[in-house]
Amino acid sequence: MAREMLGIDIGGSGIKGAAVDLSDGSFTRERFRVDTPRPSRPKAVAKVLAEVVDHFGWEGPVGVTYPGVVIDGVTMSAANVSKRWLGLEARALIADATGREITLLNDADAAGIAEMRLGAGRGRHGTVVVLTLGTGIGSALFTDGVLVPNTEFGHLQIDGEDAEIRASAKARDEQGLGWKKWAKRLSVYMRHLEALISPSLIIVGGGVSKRSEHFIPLIEGVRAEIVPARLVNNAGIVGAAMAAEAAHPLEAAR
Ligand code: BGC
Repeated sequence: MAREMLGIDIGGSGIKGAAVDLSDGSFTRERFRVDTPRPSRPKAVAKVLAEVVDHFGWEGPVGVTYPGVVIDGVTMSAANVSKRWLGLEARALIADATGREITLLNDADAAGIAEMRLGAGRGRHGTVVVLTLGTGIGSALFTDGVLVPNTEFGHLQIDGEDAEIRASAKARDEQGLGWKKWAKRLSVYMRHLEALISPSLIIVGGGVSKRSEHFIPLIEGVRAEIVPARLVNNAGIVGAAMAAEAAHPLEAAR
């Protein structure tokens, strides 16, 4: 019998959930998406999370991603969401709204967990970093498969500016950058990151990684191997489900 867990990813534009088969990361039921409320205040987001849980009629624990730092269920940063999340007991708020046990973790960490277990990082040892290029730049750092959470490498300073402001997928869209120009910015960013942590593998995720052939070959001066993510849009959901399983191992067996 499939071991299933519900994973929900809170993104800049949409909140997406699916019941995940933990053995292979496939969805046992179709993905359900609701627009992220604007402004993205905690109570409004928690209400949408309850809607997603109800949609699936889910009774077990739930894994939820958040696009910022999460320490012991408390959200500690809010770069691209309402500042009301700062210092909030978000896990408790979401548990209250949904009536479920919640595992809450950073979105890039979740995507990284899924990539390491089932995607481009499978079987890879040493230092591996997963970067999600979207509204911001998310990062997940692994050493021999073990996650160091909340690394926030998207906020490294490059020429006095947040890296994600110059090099996220949103920056490419909004500033109308061609692939070449954007790849140049990514090269500067990745060289900086490499000088700090010397990864042997950089996995590039986020929606834009579906078009990796346009920019990964143009990245220059980086020693590490650079590959596209394999789970792309679903990595956050799958990783959230995996994290919930790790927190509630018995209840995942249904
Ligand atoms: C946040 C990270 C997040 C990333 C992707 C950044 O602005 O600080 O925590 O992982 O965006 O959503």
